[in-house]
Amino acid sequence: MLAGFLDTSDEWIVTRTGIHTRRLLSGETLRELALKAARAAMDASGLRPQDIDYLICSNVANSYVSPSLGSIILGPLGCCCPTFDMNGACAGLVYALDVADAFLKSKDVKNILVVAAEQPSRFCNWHDRATSVLFGDGASALVVTRGEGFFDFRLTGNTHTDVMYYKRAMEPTPYDCVKEPTTPLVMEGREVFRLAVEASIQDVDTLLERNGMKGSDIDLFLLHQANMRIIECIREHLEQPREKFPTNIQKYGNTSSASIGILIDELSRAGELKDGATLMLSAFGGGFVTGAALLKWSSITY
Ligand code: UT7
Repeated sequence: MLAGFLDTSDEWIVTRTGIHTRRLLSGETLRELALKAARAAMDASGLRPQDIDYLICSNVANSYVSPSLGSIILGPLGCCCPTFDMNGACAGLVYALDVADAFLKSKDVKNILVVAAEQPSRFCNWHDRATSVLFGDGASALVVTRGEGFFDFRLTGNTHTDVMYYKRAMEPTPYDCVKEPTTPLVMEGREVFRLAVEASIQDVDTLLERNGMKGSDIDLFLLHQANMRIIECIREHLEQPREKFPTNIQKYGNTSSASIGILIDELSRAGELKDGATLMLSAFGGGFVTGAALLKWSSITY
C-alpha cells in the first residue's frame, strides 16, 4: 500500500528497519485505544477504579492540547484520581515509570496506572518516505503497584531539537502574530540512529555497572522498538544472545512510547515473563531524551 503513493518498496523498509506491517488508526480514535489498553491493564490487575491512586499518561500529541489525555480517559475508566500527561517522546513510558516509582516511594499511594498512547501517523509527513513508513499507532498500559520491583533508573536529556521535531501552529495574538505553520515530523534518520545506539548502550552499561551486574544477569532486554538494526547494534555491544532481545517491531512499527508496553503485554500473555525475571528497559526519542530501567518483574494477581 505504501509503495502505491510513496517512492518506496517493501524490500527497502524490511531490510532497513525490520518492519513488515504497522497499524494505523482510521475509524477509531486515540482516546478509544488508550481506554482499551487502560481497561485491559486494570482487568488483568484485578483492581477496581477506586483503587487507582494516580493515572499518568505518556503521549507526544493528540488532538487535544488541553485537557490532558489522562483527564479525557479518567472518567470513562471510572477513576477519580489525580492525572497528568508526560511527553518524554519515545522514552515516555520509562519516564512515567520513573515518576510512578518515585510517587510510590514518597507518597501515600499504592497503585498507579501508567498509559502510553500514541498516534504518530497523525504527525508524520505522508509525502516523506523516510519517516512515514516507520511509525504505527498504538497504546499500552501497566498498573504499577508498591513493592520491591524497581532497582534503578537512568534518564538523560540534552537539546537536539533539529534532529527530530514536530511543530504545531499556535493561535495569533494582537501582540504576536508571527505565523508559524504546523510542520509535520522532521527527522534526521541517520543522526537519530547514531544517538539512539550510543545513548542506549551508555544507559544500559551505567545501570549494569552501578548495580554490580553483567549483561548475563539480565533475563530480557526490552528495547524501544524503533529499528531492528538499532536493537541489533545494542545487542552486539552487550554480546548477549538474540533470544534475550524480544521484538515486535515487525508487526507494529515504531509506536513511540507505547512500544515497550506492547512488548511487555505480548510477552506476559505468552507466558514468557516469569515472576522474578530481571528486565532491562531502554528507550530513546526526540529531545534527545533517553531512559533505562532495571527491574524485577512480578505480576501480582489479586
Ligand atoms: O523512536 C525514535 C525515532 N526514530 C528512529 O529511531 C529512527 C532512527 N533512524 C533509522 O531508523 C534509520 O536511519 C532510517 C530507517 C530512518 C533510515 O535508514 P538508513 O539506513 O539510515 O537510510 P538513510 O537515511 O541513510 O537513506 C539511505 C537511502 C537514501 O537515498 P540516497 O540518498 O542514498 O539515494 C534515502 O533517500 O534510502 C532512501 N530512503 C528510502 N528509500 C526507499 C529513505 N527512506 C526510504 C524509503 N524507501 N522509505
